[in-house]
Amino acid sequence: MSNSGDKKDSRLWGGRFSEPTDAFVERFTASVSFDKRLYQADIKGSVAHATMLEKAGILTKDEMQQIISGLEDIQSEIESGNFTWSEKLEDVHMNIESALTAKIGNTGKKLHTGRSRNDQVATDIRLYVRDEIDLLLAILNKVQLAVLDLAAREAETIMPGFTHLQTAQPITFGHHMMAWFEMLQRDMQRLHDCRKRVNISPLGSAALAGTTYPIDRELTAKLLGFEKPSENSLDSVSDRDFAIELSAACSIIMMHLSRFSEELVLWSASQFNFIQLPDRFCTGSSIMPQKKNPDVPELIRGKSGRVFGHLMALLTLMKSQPLAYNKDNQEDKEPLFDTLDTVKDSLKAYADMLPAIICNKDIMQSAALQGFATATDLADYLVKKGMPFRDAHEVVGKSVAYCIEKKKTLSELSLKELQQFSGSISEDVFTVLTLEGSVSARDHIGGTAPSQVKAAITRARQLLKQQ
Ligand code: ARG
Repeated sequence: MSNSGDKKDSRLWGGRFSEPTDAFVERFTASVSFDKRLYQADIKGSVAHATMLEKAGILTKDEMQQIISGLEDIQSEIESGNFTWSEKLEDVHMNIESALTAKIGNTGKKLHTGRSRNDQVATDIRLYVRDEIDLLLAILNKVQLAVLDLAAREAETIMPGFTHLQTAQPITFGHHMMAWFEMLQRDMQRLHDCRKRVNISPLGSAALAGTTYPIDRELTAKLLGFEKPSENSLDSVSDRDFAIELSAACSIIMMHLSRFSEELVLWSASQFNFIQLPDRFCTGSSIMPQKKNPDVPELIRGKSGRVFGHLMALLTLMKSQPLAYNKDNQEDKEPLFDTLDTVKDSLKAYADMLPAIICNKDIMQSAALQGFATATDLADYLVKKGMPFRDAHEVVGKSVAYCIEKKKTLSELSLKELQQFSGSISEDVFTVLTLEGSVSARDHIGGTAPSQVKAAITRARQLLKQQ
């Protein structure tokens, strides 16, 4: 490890140091390469802080104005690509503050009165995360609308429903889509809930204990759109559970998308052939000309892994940290940013892909005819004729074994054949053995009957309008 030549350290905190930072340490401890994306939040926080300092009589009006317009210039420079970020200045906060002082002179050095980078960074992340949650909510809403449209389009389309990936009972495709709607709705609620705990202002907590200046924390909280100032300065500078919570909510979203993706991958395979994914969401193979690979759902399924990993990284990062701020906390950003980027992109892909999915209705229908999907309906029929359910189960089991032997489906058996298994069976059995009869009979809230699916879609649309 080598030190850079200069004897004196010119950094913002360099006063008590007699030798400059080791060049390796400088690079190792810097965060600007990734935290520069907090620049908007950082400037917004500084403008609110300066505004409050003036109201509290700590800055003059002129000083406040110089600081604010200097910060606005810096924001334009960053946005037009004319700002030079320096690793020597460690992070986004010190890069911007140094640039301010370079621009407006000594007044720039007054901005940091009554605050610390510890409450500054905690404020910045909360501001950033709050905006990101709003973006996530907007995209999630688009995905939900796409799911509802697909459910409405296919409310009567019959497919086999599975348990253990074995044919279980016939369901409607619309019903299957509404299951996804419910999962996404809970994802939405989790984000709304998390947002409430994010929207609290740590600003004014300073390094850890608060500050001796007559600051007005209510004012900065209000200027930044936070619900209120946080209660405890030690907690405020060190807490990152809002990030863990968001990361958990994002992990659950990705877990849901991975399940959704898995089904899209299966359903688009030629052995199922239930759906066609739009070509623009698939890729070909360089060697096998027939291939159309469902890359987008596969990748989303795969990307769930990194998001779960980030949740574990954040939990481990915070585990056993003593109060209050520790440098460990700087490690919160990359997992959090990557989580947000990944989830936003995955949801965006879903919002675009779902409306273009084509259902191969005939294939789903004939798949539902395989695998004795109406066996439960036959058992229920016998129960309604007075047979105890366990006996009915036995009778139907024997009928299914007979069908397998004869290579027939239940509805292909003649009345005579069916009657070998129970004298209670009569002509009316054939309506319960049809797929349409089977799905329409499940006619209660949460059931797969097309009328129930349509009612669920109406309620869901109402719910989305209210939120
Ligand atoms: N870059 C730091 C972080 O991301 C900012 C806060 C640093 N505070 C300190 N006292 N070193 O956490």
